[in-house]
Amino acid sequence: MESSVKVTSLKKTFKLSKKQMKIDKTKSNLKIAVNDISFEAYPNEIFGLLGPNGAGKTTTLRCISTLIKPDQGEIKLAGIDIKEDTKVKKHIGFLTNELKLEEQMTPNYAFEYFGKFYDLTKEQIEKRKEELFNEFGVNKFAEVKIGDLSTGMKQKVSIVVSLVHDPDIIIFDEPTNGLDVLTARTITDYLKNLAKNGKTVIISTHIMSLAQKLCDRIGIIIDGKMVICDTLENVLKEYQSDDLEEVFFEIYSKEAC
Ligand SMILES: Nc1ncnc2c1ncn2[C@@H]1O[C@H](COP(=O)(O)OP(=O)(O)O)[C@@H](O)[C@H]1O
Ligand SMILES: [Mg+2]
Repeated sequence: MESSVKVTSLKKTFKLSKKQMKIDKTKSNLKIAVNDISFEAYPNEIFGLLGPNGAGKTTTLRCISTLIKPDQGEIKLAGIDIKEDTKVKKHIGFLTNELKLEEQMTPNYAFEYFGKFYDLTKEQIEKRKEELFNEFGVNKFAEVKIGDLSTGMKQKVSIVVSLVHDPDIIIFDEPTNGLDVLTARTITDYLKNLAKNGKTVIISTHIMSLAQKLCDRIGIIIDGKMVICDTLENVLKEYQSDDLEEVFFEIYSKEAC
């Protein structure tokens, strides 16, 4: 099977400010956030980028989504190098809790705004809106200002907005963070459905039980390095365990030595 996302030897370093160097108690003004990471994600599968806070998950996903430029390495989407074809961006939907929508906009307005941004026709936008607003129950508050919505509702709006162009590759940073159990379930069920329908889904999470329920393939990152990357089944087999959290602790304690 051909991979739809191929990351090879990805490296990203940040320059730290003097203040940040103090906070991090470091003498170096460089922070290696992602250190030589490689992995592949496939259609019909959910790939989980796992690791503790600060491991380098968000940085990796932001590089794939072309929001930031890597220092080194290669990223291919459907076989195309993102450096060579910037239009390839259209194939990606990047979902993050940090997406800040204009508080004065309504969900209807925001959806149309992003639809136009992706050059969709009015008819295409309407059709997509009907599908997605139904799926996520956004219709009920489609004309309420985003600033007046609850966290869960805002999250749903940012999801539907990020999916307006029906991307083949869906990248979701910490998909259930800060959500109530019902909203979280709506989202994980939807991600499973996307994969079932041939999309490539990549999520990041520090919650191993979520990854075990959701992911077909996983990569564990610790301190910017990929320490294991395989199908969930193979990882559990290798460690003779049925509990990914236990496997993670075992790997983590070895790495920390
Ligand atoms: N813009 C930035 N400037 C400086 N350091 C950063 C920046 N973004 C991330 N980092 C650092 O890089 C490391 C990896 O961060 P991140 O990718 O956000 O981790 P994760 O998503 O796994 O929690 C952390 O130590 C973080 O503090
Ligand atoms: Mg993160």
